[in-house]
Amino acid sequence: MKNYYITTPIYYPSANAHLGHCYSTIAADVMARYKRLKGFNVMFSTGTDEHGQKIENCAKKAGVSPKHYVDEIVLNFKKLWQILDISYDVFIRTTDDYHVKAVQKIFTKLYELGKIYKGKYSGWYCVPCESFFTETQLKEGKCPDCGREVKKQDEEAYFFKLSEYQDKILDLLENNPEFLEPESRRNEMINFVKEGLQDLCVSRSSFNWGIPVEFDKSHVVYVWIDALTNYINLLGYPYETENFKKFWPADVHVMGKEIVRFHSVIWPAILMALGLPVPKKIYAHGWILFGDGEKMSKSKGNVVDPFVLCERYGSDALRYFLLREIPFGSDGFFSDEAFLKRLNSDLANDLGNLLSRSTALVEKNFNSTLISERFSDENDKNLIDIASSLAKNCEKYIEKMKFSNYLSEIWKFVSECNKYMEVCAPWNLAKDENQKPRLATILYNVLESLRIVSILVAPVMPKIAKEIQNQLGLKDSDCTWESSKKWGVLEENVKINRSNPLFARLDIEKEIKILENINKKDDSGAKISIEDFAKVNLIIAKVVDCEPIKKSRKLLKLTINDGKTNRTVVSGISQYYSPEELINHNVILVENLNPAKLCGVESNGMILAAQSDGRIKVIFVDDIVAGSKIS
Ligand code: MSP
Repeated sequence: MKNYYITTPIYYPSANAHLGHCYSTIAADVMARYKRLKGFNVMFSTGTDEHGQKIENCAKKAGVSPKHYVDEIVLNFKKLWQILDISYDVFIRTTDDYHVKAVQKIFTKLYELGKIYKGKYSGWYCVPCESFFTETQLKEGKCPDCGREVKKQDEEAYFFKLSEYQDKILDLLENNPEFLEPESRRNEMINFVKEGLQDLCVSRSSFNWGIPVEFDKSHVVYVWIDALTNYINLLGYPYETENFKKFWPADVHVMGKEIVRFHSVIWPAILMALGLPVPKKIYAHGWILFGDGEKMSKSKGNVVDPFVLCERYGSDALRYFLLREIPFGSDGFFSDEAFLKRLNSDLANDLGNLLSRSTALVEKNFNSTLISERFSDENDKNLIDIASSLAKNCEKYIEKMKFSNYLSEIWKFVSECNKYMEVCAPWNLAKDENQKPRLATILYNVLESLRIVSILVAPVMPKIAKEIQNQLGLKDSDCTWESSKKWGVLEENVKINRSNPLFARLDIEKEIKILENINKKDDSGAKISIEDFAKVNLIIAKVVDCEPIKKSRKLLKLTINDGKTNRTVVSGISQYYSPEELINHNVILVENLNPAKLCGVESNGMILAAQSDGRIKVIFVDDIVAGSKIS
């Protein structure tokens, strides 16, 4: 079996995970899932880069130890990856014992080999970026990466002889076009290396939160030797473990463009010094920008919380959007509107509707089981031809990590299927008993097309792929990657299990307002008066009955007793609670909300729940009697 090793950057847990972190991680996850489907033995790693002055400062501000500080945030990252179905094999933390020991060994080895020496460093230091800069690198006297103030710093430090590797690195970049992609980044790095490489400061003595240098405890290993070596340490380095033999060199390191220099210049030089092969590929994607081309910031009100998006629209929608909207490698924009529009058009309309219309016709006209007697005509050939070559066409894009082209190719086919439905108009044939064989053929062709689509979308939308496959009554063996290249795998008499729509169509304007309000609420600066708060009537109420709302994947219909009468309240918590878990419990009810219709059911009030540990938890108050007022 062939091996495949893919990594994400290890993220700084200085603050909670955000959409930018999701981007690299989702992309790497898609590749890992794709390669697994192709039969590779995959190692997919991610993790957190926990040392450094910035984290030390954040912890100080929060009044906790650095370890305590990062522990909390690492939980947040892990929760988000769970919600986003990130199928990593290893999550490495640079505070993990095995990593600490390996870094110490690597540092000592490089020192003993004469690749690290002691010197004096003087430079402009940017605390948030943990980077020293030379005078010429500064932009208008400020940090060239983040634009903040820098300070002159002078201290004894260890240096890595990066300058020794200038020719080798240049050769690597110039003669291996596949090593660094996209091309634009490669050219940038070639120019950078040509300007000359300076030795690199690899230890610090001005802060403590780092891995102590084994032979000189007054120094801690400074960022890049600590961070970059995670990629080999998690495989067991410096020991010759099975994993190390199987997976090194990595097939691809995925990252944002701002850390390409470290990965394509410093990292290969460290590996060369250790006598190890360099990774096969570095792939640098662009940045996700917000609104007016800025990165996210609370004060600008353009914060996008991935937890909120996943909670409201499903993690697959976010995975799809990020990879479809922005060509991988370029910068691109995130806006709620663009996200919601794609959700409606590509997911609810094009894909969701195709499944819903076709399965509805099978359910209604064939009692959910297509007859095998069929009749083909000319229109079918075109569809079958495209379907049969689709996977092969798509593969060339995903192999090159061109996710947007990959998805757009699939969606062209989905449009083709919708056109086929329009042209064949099976709903008209359904009126004539004699047309049943033709009707069966059309529906078979659409369902078989959807089978192929479900396999191809699986790396990007694992939940939706499973859902389609369940609705089509498919077995695992019908959903292998190889079977996406074959036509006619769906069994003749398959029994389908029609279910909820894949995606609900959204009222975009309404959703944008809701998202804006959620963001505003998050803004801890906004205060309200006691009079405003007093307008909300909160009371304790008892859940006396509860059932799912059939048309919805999220909503539960609760019958609640507010101490006087029963009322109906609709709540979007069915992902987290079964009706039995709510019945007979007391909850907090917002009693005086305007009634609202959700999936055809009128809701009179709202029960309170909290976001905790990456899920929704209803606030139960069983020891207070129903009808009690909260004030
Ligand atoms: N700890 C280093 C990486 C060490 S890897 C050996 C680091 N961490 S980070 O938390 O700052 O994460 C940076 C990575 O997050 C970027 O390289 C990119 O992968 C992702 N992104 C963070 N913000 C982003 C955007 N706004 N857009 C796209 N990705 C960005 O650097």
